[in-house]
Amino acid sequence: MLERNACVLVYFSGKGDKPLAFSPKSILVTGGAGFIGSNFIHSFVANNPDCKVTNLDCLTYAGNLKNLTAIENNPHYRFVRGDIGDAPLVADLLTELEIDAVVHFAAESHVDRSITGPEIFVRTNVLGTQILLEESRKHLQSGKVGDFRFFQISTDEVYGSLGETGYFTEQTPLAANSPYSASKAGADLLVRAYHETFGMPTLNTRCSNNYGPYHFPEKLIPLLIHNIINKKPLPVYGDGQNVRDWLHVRDHSAAIDLILKKGVPGSVYNIGGNNEWKNIDIVNLVCDLLDTRLGRSDGENRHLITFVKDRPGHDRRYAIDASQLKRDLGWEPAFTFENGIAETIEWYLDNKEWVEGVTSGAYREYYEQQYGRGSV
Ligand code: NAD
Ligand code: TYD
Repeated sequence: MLERNACVLVYFSGKGDKPLAFSPKSILVTGGAGFIGSNFIHSFVANNPDCKVTNLDCLTYAGNLKNLTAIENNPHYRFVRGDIGDAPLVADLLTELEIDAVVHFAAESHVDRSITGPEIFVRTNVLGTQILLEESRKHLQSGKVGDFRFFQISTDEVYGSLGETGYFTEQTPLAANSPYSASKAGADLLVRAYHETFGMPTLNTRCSNNYGPYHFPEKLIPLLIHNIINKKPLPVYGDGQNVRDWLHVRDHSAAIDLILKKGVPGSVYNIGGNNEWKNIDIVNLVCDLLDTRLGRSDGENRHLITFVKDRPGHDRRYAIDASQLKRDLGWEPAFTFENGIAETIEWYLDNKEWVEGVTSGAYREYYEQQYGRGSV
């Protein structure tokens, strides 16, 4: 078992509580073929040209290698098709690639799917995270790696639901309401436990709703854009008054890069855009922007709005207090929502082939041609 104090010596400078800035050389990104993971890989590779990046992704329905075509020939990047629950594979990768940070995005991520089929959420999000933690613990114990980070990417949804006022802080108790958020909360607690029990140098972020390029069109914003372009109904759950706090995915990626290098091991950081919107207001906004962009008459797209039965256990409001991150590490979002949503709409219009590839299922054939089944 890893001696906790030995590990603490590795990652603290010895002067008070301040960690040395961490400079990763070879990171294992899990779930890097998904929405946030692929955006993170693009920005991390561009900003850290000397760091090797290995993307471990088993390519569920949400994994799409087309998100990564622009960097697939980069000599510092490699893709490995595999499951985070495959302990021997994870162990081999950690050792052979001399991994000094695991940046863990891989998850089942859609609340609606967690309501109809919760089991895979527990298997991937809870058990998968525990396997990564355990293999990381053995990797550290082997003494072959010095400074190390285990970075758990999580969600504000672990805190449950807010009323009309107030914000989630890092001290807000976990009160997850959906099988998805419960599985993420379970994983967060395991991350905490590995830090407390084994001295694992963990980082844990909890972020609000992301939007931007490569977003799978089952989630609200890309679904709206796709359906408006194709003049299909826009399903709004319940009364449309639920509130989400939207953050551009590149702002999220920049925060992760910063926290990886400067975050204090054992800490939790909230990440949010201070950008609350009622769902119905977002739906109206995207309709109106696309009226203009597609040359349709004013209000035409709003006719597509269809109120549907509410999601069971639908959290009413999420709002993040990200002041700790600003105060400690100086992070603030760079995108205004006005710019971010306009850019996102342009991206979907410019990348219709990507969207059609996803909605037709063609993206799934692409990786079979590239890599075959189960290959590394
Ligand atoms: P996503 O569903 O788009 O991508 C998930 C990726 O994980 C896919 O590429 C999938 O193939 C891969 N994956 C799933 N199970 C795997 C397994 N067993 N082994 C290896 N790979 C596996 O998800 P996303 O929206 O990019 O979210 C990424 C992370 O960020 C998740 O942990 C999610 O909980 C968290 N998060 C998401 C949001 C958001 O708004 N999307 C907000 C806060 C936090
Ligand atoms: P979603 O993008 O699924 O993210 P999350 O549930 O993780 O917040 O949904 C964002 C909000 O939009 C949420 O309140 C549910 C709502 N919603 C709709 O009203 N209609 C839809 O078709 C979808 C997918 C979501």
